[in-house]
Amino acid sequence: MKRPNSMIKKRITVLSVMLMSAGATLADQVVNLYSQRHYPADKEVFALFTQKTGIQVNVVTANADELIKRLESEGEKSPADVLLTKDAARLSWAAAKDLYQPVSSEILEKNVPSHLRDPDMQWFGFTQRARVLVYAKDRVKADELKTYEDLAKPEWKGRIVARSSAHIYNQSLLAGMIATHGEKEALLWAVKVRQNMARKPQGSDRDQIRAVARGLADVAIVNSYYLGLLVNSEDPKDRELAAKVKIAFPNQDDRGTHVNISGIGVCKHAKNKGNALKFIEFLTSKEVQDLYPVKTYEYPLSLKMVTPLHQAWGSFKPDTLNLKVLGENNAKAIAIFQAAQWE
Ligand SMILES: [Fe+2]
Repeated sequence: MKRPNSMIKKRITVLSVMLMSAGATLADQVVNLYSQRHYPADKEVFALFTQKTGIQVNVVTANADELIKRLESEGEKSPADVLLTKDAARLSWAAAKDLYQPVSSEILEKNVPSHLRDPDMQWFGFTQRARVLVYAKDRVKADELKTYEDLAKPEWKGRIVARSSAHIYNQSLLAGMIATHGEKEALLWAVKVRQNMARKPQGSDRDQIRAVARGLADVAIVNSYYLGLLVNSEDPKDRELAAKVKIAFPNQDDRGTHVNISGIGVCKHAKNKGNALKFIEFLTSKEVQDLYPVKTYEYPLSLKMVTPLHQAWGSFKPDTLNLKVLGENNAKAIAIFQAAQWE
């Protein structure tokens, strides 16, 4: 009689331990992501992560300012483990608002070049984009477009298009310029470039490329992957327009072309910190780094040219200014754009 009883007890104990650990495993196997990006490629990458690790990625998508506000108001109760944005300035602000936490990871130190991560290891780039000049093949020669500074010259009068200065991509470009030349020169540049524009700033980066291809202007300031999107567009009209332009990487003889990142960090009140770190490390792994250029036409952290498109564009030297500066100089950049009447 005693024997079966103790066996039953033992079984129950073993079973409950098993259930508890199964429950604990299920509860732990998540990473909660707040993301500014809504790229189909991200979904693929997240599914790959789940397949490899069993960790489910729960995504909340919204614009970066909304996500930052939400994290601030949620405080300690926030369910978010990681915050992802598509511009370094916002990563830098989130860190300044104490929304991230520093992490230690040899993998991230190795995989993410130091200028593409926070000096205090709070956020990390995982893809790069270059802010390039796209020009009309038949009206501009490559050697006429050496630098961003060239765009301020009188020979570009009425020939430039760019999007509004309200957009963070332009603000970050100017923030980098402030770091290089100081505010006075940055203002002079913005004034002259605005005066050289073929039309009032409007539309998206893709619209700027289309405007050049249609002959409305000769050169556009845009992020590199937008040309990739047009070259590979399902719309034959866009592919036709893309064939009429070329890409120039400015400032190859001095500081290098302005680059920006999509980046991510572990939230201050992350409940799944271990999973969060694994997730960020995965985004910087060779497998994912080789995938993004194919899917989104962005550059990998290494700038390795893994697609024929990137190979055709050719290699370039990036500006290695630490991207934290883009956040620090953002307010100055906005003020300068206003003073320059760059809408
Ligand atoms: Fe973009």
